[in-house]
Parts: sequence; C-alpha cells; structure tokens
Amino acid sequence: MSEHAPAKVNLTLHVTGRRSDGYHLLDSLVAFADVGDTVTAEPADALTLEVTGPMGADVPTGPENLVLAAARLFDAPRGARLILDKHLPAAAGIGGGSSDAAAALRLLSRLWDLPVPEGSVALGADVPMCLDPRVQRVRGVGDERRPVDILPPLPTVLVNPGVPVATPEVFKRLTVRENPPMPTDLPLLSCPADAADWIATQRNDLAGPARAIAPEIGAVLAALSGARLARMSGSGATCFGLYDTRAEADQAAEEIARAEPGWWVRATTLAAHAPSS
Ligand code: C5P
Repeated sequence: MSEHAPAKVNLTLHVTGRRSDGYHLLDSLVAFADVGDTVTAEPADALTLEVTGPMGADVPTGPENLVLAAARLFDAPRGARLILDKHLPAAAGIGGGSSDAAAALRLLSRLWDLPVPEGSVALGADVPMCLDPRVQRVRGVGDERRPVDILPPLPTVLVNPGVPVATPEVFKRLTVRENPPMPTDLPLLSCPADAADWIATQRNDLAGPARAIAPEIGAVLAALSGARLARMSGSGATCFGLYDTRAEADQAAEEIARAEPGWWVRATTLAAHAPSS
C-alpha cells in the first residue's frame, strides 16, 4: 500500500509574533499541490527504509529520516518495509520531509491497524497540517488549523533553484517579529485571477531573510514574472507562480525549465480539496 506526500505551498505566511521558547507565531494560508513524494509499505518483520527517486540521492536512510521517526511515534511499532520515492527537493520550503512523515503516519496507521499517534508536531511544525492535506489556515506555531473553502483550484508553477535553505537560519535572520495577521474573515475567491489578486495583497514575511541567505530566490522570482503572482513558499527557496489557466502554467514551466535546466520546475494545480492518495 502507498500514500502520496504532496508538496505544501504557503500562499501567505505572516509572522505575527514570537513565543518565549523562540518559536514564531504564524498566520498562513496553505494549499497542496498534485506533485509530491510517495511512501510505500509492505508487511515485514523488521522496520527498514529504502529511498528511491530523482531527489533521493542525498536523503538519509537512517533513524534521522522523518519517515522512520514517524514509525517510532506509534505506541507499538512493528515491522514494515518502507520505500520513500523522493520527487520533491529537500530543505525547499514546500514541506517535503513533513509531508513524507505525515504520509508515513497515515500509511502505517492503515498497515498496523493502529490510530495515527498524537504529537506528530514533535516531528516538525508542518507535520500536523500535512496529515490532512487540504486548503487550510494555520495559526499559532502550526497547532491551530482550520480548513477553509475559499479557493478555486489554482494553476501554478513551482520553481526551486537547487539551493537548500535551512529553516532555522531564515527565522534567525528575521528582524521584524510582530507583523499584522491576515484579516479575520478571508474572502471567497471564485476564480484563479481573483485569488491571485487577493493573495498578492498579503505577504510571506520570510522572503526577505531567505533572500539574504539565498540570492538565487531573486532570479527564480524574475523567471516567474509572467505569472499573475510570484512569491516564495515557506522559508524558501521554492517559489510559486499563479496563472489563470493550466495551459499558461504548463507553457511557463516549459519555458523556465528550458532556460534553466539545473532548476526543479513543475506545473501543478493547487487543489481546492485534499489531493487523492
Ligand atoms: O519544526 P521544524 O523542524 O519545521 O522547524 C524548524 C525550525 O524553524 C525550528 O527549529 C525553529 O527555529 C523555526 N520555526 C519557528 N517557528 C515556527 C516553526 C519553525 O521559529 N512556527
């Protein structure tokens, strides 16, 4: 059996404060793509992990891998032969590791017939939001999640320049710590153009510090300048461009990939609902 681990995109990411333990308070509109990794499991006596796929080369297969950490979170972990087929770049702001961990939790819950364990946030702040990958507003430190039915499917291009960005470094460089949140009531956005125009009025507060660490982000945003809106996701370096139609997104992705063969470029549709597994 297998589970899809879709890429997460922060359409907005407002940093609204900082807790005394150093964690930041966020207000973020999150959607999921129809591109991602896949986690597969077969019954086995021992717990093992193999990593495959075009982005698998540098992914650790030891206990530090979030898929194995997810397995250990169960009360009574058993054996399983796990395969992580890696298509998303790592340390890229699109929740690859978190989505893998969440997919592993859903998968092993089915394989072992055990409930998904509480406390998945210990694996990473983004893991709980990836457990139920649908459009949602995430607040607090990622612990306050509310599904929101305000977006149409969004034709999108995702672009990563191949430069890993460490999330803690980005937060460390953030100087403005108390920015306004999104409006209390989010508007109903009925077409991709309206959605992009409204999202453009909001922010990703991590873009400045991330660009100081990875100036390549500027080149990625420039490559997406034909989009209705281009913005960085999460702590970077992946950026998304929103287009009015999937045909426009497909064409833009083709052109960017041709101009920058070393970059990771994908056309996708950010789903209005949970992407199917
Ligand atoms: O939880 P995760 O491993 O994704 O977080 C990586 C780092 O990002 C944390 O160690 C912390 O420095 C920073 N972070 C934060 N506030 C959040 C989420 C992450 O400061 N809400």
